[in-house]
Amino acid sequence: MHVVHIAVEMAPIAKVGGLGDIVTSLSRAVQDLNHNVNIVFPKYDCLKFEHVTDFHYQRCYSWAGTEIKVWFGKVEGLSVYFLDPQNGFFSTGCVYGCGNDAQRFGFFCHAALEFLHQSGFHPDIIHCHDWSSAPVAWLIKDHYMHYDGLSKSRVVFTIHNLEFGAHFIAKAMVYADKATTVSHTYSKEVAGNPAIAPHLHKFHGILNGIDLDIWDPFNDKFIPVSYNSENVIEGKRAAKKALQERLGLEKSDLPLVGIISRLTHQKGIHLIKHAISRTLELNGQVVLLGSAPDPRIQNDFVNLADQLHSSYADRARLCLNYDEPLSHLIYAGSDFILVPSIFEPCGLTQLTAMRYGSIPVVRKTGGLYDTVFDVENDKARAEAQGLEPNGFNFDGADGSGVDYALNRAITAWYGARDWFNSLCKTVMEQDWSWNRPALEYIELYHATKKY
Ligand code: ADP
Ligand code: GLC
Repeated sequence: MHVVHIAVEMAPIAKVGGLGDIVTSLSRAVQDLNHNVNIVFPKYDCLKFEHVTDFHYQRCYSWAGTEIKVWFGKVEGLSVYFLDPQNGFFSTGCVYGCGNDAQRFGFFCHAALEFLHQSGFHPDIIHCHDWSSAPVAWLIKDHYMHYDGLSKSRVVFTIHNLEFGAHFIAKAMVYADKATTVSHTYSKEVAGNPAIAPHLHKFHGILNGIDLDIWDPFNDKFIPVSYNSENVIEGKRAAKKALQERLGLEKSDLPLVGIISRLTHQKGIHLIKHAISRTLELNGQVVLLGSAPDPRIQNDFVNLADQLHSSYADRARLCLNYDEPLSHLIYAGSDFILVPSIFEPCGLTQLTAMRYGSIPVVRKTGGLYDTVFDVENDKARAEAQGLEPNGFNFDGADGSGVDYALNRAITAWYGARDWFNSLCKTVMEQDWSWNRPALEYIELYHATKKY
């Protein structure tokens, strides 16, 4: 099968959040199952070119009065076609936030289809993602149905987050041949949304996976000691020390809570703040890595970071930027990764945490509900999935829920170390990779019929 993704984020060359991770990791997983996968991507000026190999100019074409140069490169083993329109759409700033994003990405979607058409590609599946490549779903029907190549292509549209670009998403839901979202529970949570409700017959929840090669504590250049579940305790001890040293925290063995997140309403800002205070009251350490697209929220966290730096210099550090290498060290060096999201379509940080033997502490919503099973309360639910319980979770959206989960987590860390250490091993051995979900996507691709 030939699958082409048209997308505007891709790890590690232009990643803003989980969408970037998924475009790369899902493509790699499907390619590993012997399908032909390509990606059509904007050639942003800010691309991290150090991660692109075999980069070269291919040709140019003209569309809508604009010359578009096509470049080719390999990213994490994937063949990527970079579109470089000479109208400056992708030569300012980075992925989002240019003021005319809808126009830029609308243009890109049409230019991408035109590229496929003019290059004589006839993919079986064109997979588009979120509002930013949603226009693919209707542009192909409006403009390319009479051409041999693309008339046979079917469109799969994945919703990673219904909060953004509702209008684009609603329209793509009408035209896509199949639509998916990134966990089963989120698919149920949004089933009543007016954009989704009329299309439930073609709407499916497929859980995201993580790429085990990209996130691998046994082979990770950003952590000091390689480890797997056999030597998880030594590996994490060394990573914690390195993290404490790098951030200037006290180098003693205290329970360390890590938070790696975009700082937006979705992620439960007030719960994150509450958890920071609670962890400090419980004599833990806390490290937050995050940045806020909204300058008021960013400012608020800068103030909080200053306060904590004067009152808890040894035990709290807020790093308010985007830092991929540091994120690896936090996953490895933390005992817990906290994800108190108000809503979460899937969430990747809890899955990556487990891969690094860190215990997730999460709010029960969306994909967090589907992947984290409370050690006390979810034994039966975990067993039904063939899993051991693997973390701590809570309901509600006020501080008492966070307290309920964190108190139990940190108390177990202090009082039941052997049990806690065996839990680290258990979570590391659980499989949150693409092994299963990639097969579900392939089945869905095969089942995709024209509507
Ligand atoms: P979302 O896509 O809603 O932001 P996900 O949990 O799906 O949430 O994915 C977030 C991804 O971005 C993860 O890979 C996480 O490690 C990464 N991430 C988030 N914030 C930062 C940051 N400040 N620095 C480095 N990586 C980050
Ligand atoms: C979105 C969601 C997140 C999901 C990611 C990848 O950004 O907020 O829950 O994991 O997309 O699908």
